[in-house]
Amino acid sequence: MGKKIHLIVAARPNFMKVAPLYHALKATDWANPVIVHTGQHYDINMSDAFFTDLKLPEPDIHLEVGSGSHAEQTGRVMIAYEEILKKESPELTVVVGDVNSTIACAMACSKYHYPPEKNLPFTQTKIVHLEAGLRSFDRGMPEEINRILTDTISDVLWTPSEDGDENLINEGVTKGKIVRIGNIMIDSLEMMRASIEKENVCEEFNLKKSNYAVVTLHRPSNVDNKETLKKICTMLNETAELLPLVFPLHPRTRKNLEEAGFMQLISNNERITLVEPQSYIRFMSLVFNCRLVITDSGGIQEETTYIGIPCLTIRPNTERPITITQGTNQLCTIADINSRVKNILSADYNMKYKVPDLWDGYTADRAVESIKKILE
Ligand code: UD1
Repeated sequence: MGKKIHLIVAARPNFMKVAPLYHALKATDWANPVIVHTGQHYDINMSDAFFTDLKLPEPDIHLEVGSGSHAEQTGRVMIAYEEILKKESPELTVVVGDVNSTIACAMACSKYHYPPEKNLPFTQTKIVHLEAGLRSFDRGMPEEINRILTDTISDVLWTPSEDGDENLINEGVTKGKIVRIGNIMIDSLEMMRASIEKENVCEEFNLKKSNYAVVTLHRPSNVDNKETLKKICTMLNETAELLPLVFPLHPRTRKNLEEAGFMQLISNNERITLVEPQSYIRFMSLVFNCRLVITDSGGIQEETTYIGIPCLTIRPNTERPITITQGTNQLCTIADINSRVKNILSADYNMKYKVPDLWDGYTADRAVESIKKILE
């Protein structure tokens, strides 16, 4: 059977981080990886499509918690996952990234002590945080709270880059807990590269290669406030005059645009193509072939740095500063976007970038080595 290892997945950005680790553990003769889906994201195109693309099997365990306020969602995951811990007794649980399910499962593990009669070689499930140490230093972001708390209670902290190690050390974490394994999303990208390069999704939307921008926006700070959302719509119409846009709409963004009555502000513009959230391969195909990206996502800042596509991030800060210091990312305000786009489109625009260390496609192997040591 092998050693039981729970891999927690919950929301869209988790799937491409867990897939390489699942496949690498499955290839060993000692590990029994079990996928636990909390159900934070549940739509076909926010979840199932990623399982298909990343060749993940159906989740072994599904907690089906769905949406809710932060406390509701976190609480429901904790209650449901504690029941699973009682039945399953995993030796190790890997939590990923910074979503509500990450902290919920870590917290359930950290407080659940197995009764002595279970006679297990451990009294508590070991917790490993994949993508540890990232900090935006903005506690107004729910994800920042999730990151800080998860890192505080995890036994081992897998960081993607040097700045992650530095943040943890500054918070007083002992060096022995930190293992820099690199950026595991790059493993997914390399694993799927051939399939991504075969697709030509832009043509389906009548867009020409290197002559359109991909837009993704879903952060509460950008899309939950009506005034801000309206400014974004105005900005997108102006940007669309510079180059056509394709905008896969996150459910939160779609709902807010509809409720505010703003949808037609952008849907009437024929240079803006509004589409459903895309699967991993289809979305990466759009990014591979675009001229630039406008986003507020975390992961896309990293993917664009890796493949060398300019990225404009509409946020006042980022937990991924290496994408700015070494990569292709720039932070900007809604008001800045147009001048930044013009600059990128200008003939003398010269983008220098370097792929950060350990963003090499072998992160899952280093993660497996680390698990082996932890369980020895
Ligand atoms: C969550 C994460 C965020 C991550 C994002 C990626 C937290 C605090 N936030 O935010 O870090 O960047 O996922 O997408 O964990 N909805 C659907 N179908 C779905 C999922 C959600 O319709 O499959 C709707 C929900 O009903 C809700 C809205 O989308 O109204 C927001 O979903 P939620 O999971 O609460 O947060 P995200 O904004 O997706």
